[in-house]
Amino acid sequence: MKKNIWFKIGSLLVLSLVVLSACAPAATTEEAAPAEEEAAPAEEEVMEEKLAVGIVLPTKDEPRWIQDETRFKDALDEAGYDVEILFSQGDSAVELTNVQSLISKGVQVLVICPQDGTAAAAAADQAADAGVSVISYDRLIRESDAVDYYVTFDSIAVGAQQAQYLVDNATGTGNPLYLYAGAASDNNAFIFFEGAWGVLQPKIADGTFVIKNSSEAIALQDKAELTREEQSQIIGQVTTNWDFDDAKSLAEANLTATTAADKGEVFILAPNDGTARAIADAFGVDPDVTNFYVTGQDAEKASVQYIIDGKQSMTVWKDVRTLVKDAIAAAVTLLEGGTPDAQGAYDNGAKDVPAIQSAVVTVDKDNVKETLIDGGYYDAGDFTGLD
Ligand code: BGC
Repeated sequence: MKKNIWFKIGSLLVLSLVVLSACAPAATTEEAAPAEEEAAPAEEEVMEEKLAVGIVLPTKDEPRWIQDETRFKDALDEAGYDVEILFSQGDSAVELTNVQSLISKGVQVLVICPQDGTAAAAAADQAADAGVSVISYDRLIRESDAVDYYVTFDSIAVGAQQAQYLVDNATGTGNPLYLYAGAASDNNAFIFFEGAWGVLQPKIADGTFVIKNSSEAIALQDKAELTREEQSQIIGQVTTNWDFDDAKSLAEANLTATTAADKGEVFILAPNDGTARAIADAFGVDPDVTNFYVTGQDAEKASVQYIIDGKQSMTVWKDVRTLVKDAIAAAVTLLEGGTPDAQGAYDNGAKDVPAIQSAVVTVDKDNVKETLIDGGYYDAGDFTGLD
């Protein structure tokens, strides 16, 4: 943002908000006004500035992405600003249109969580051609060298913590294991699965678990490390497509295809909270399932209630506030012409994308109150049955 000298003063957050909302209607410019009077542009000047940053999220149909929207808004509202956030509603064509619309409004940085990692390459390329910096948010855009930066959680740890929870609760041998995965169009689904496989595979090899719902996984169960192609074969068989209905139908089909001997106390790797609840509902009504452990991720409110109620065993909490903060900080650095700090890089098939990733936390009935409520992430009043 060449003419914006506001960057020189004030805290990073306030600066971020100013940049993000430079064109916000009725912008409360006074609230973010810099300390040095002469540095502040006139209000008309602010109103004339173009939108500096655009945010595109995958869908409103999953509480996870509403969490992100809320946390972005909270971060911005704190200083009295609005930001335009567009949703792609699970459709890469809508996503491309959203990106084109933001480009036409003059964004300089695009923060985008792709609906389909590979399909989004076209949107990233168009943004880069227009001189826009691209931050991949939570999910990695694949096969494009137009991605400048990746802000994410430690997704290997997500899968590993889910798997570890199952391992920690299993005793003896021959425990039935049901595997489920996210959408094959989402790079994260592979990383989550890789993290889980690394922990589960030795426990499948030593007989602790017996896979019940994937012939592809059984065929590969002696391999400690899977290629992407091998992961893809398994995911193709156990994908939920990140869809509650698909997850439920697949779980029901699996339960129909197996016998009472494959049930009893079962262990279920469910990739996220939405699918965990759907899968738990299916396993919960099967008369031959006497007890089940089911994983999740996102700490969605509905799943927090399921955990309190004993219907979902655990979730992996990803503090979205951190991701939002990292994204805003990276956007500001890019706008200033700098290079955001990177802790490592993710290979997206076209380049190693510099990345920052944040830690995740296992939450179950034992620490749900302490972690999510006492920690101030959610209000106690949002739940019933909390001790
Ligand atoms: C995200 C998860 C989310 C899933 C389904 C993944 O890429 O990392 O948090 O539950 O997509 O939307």
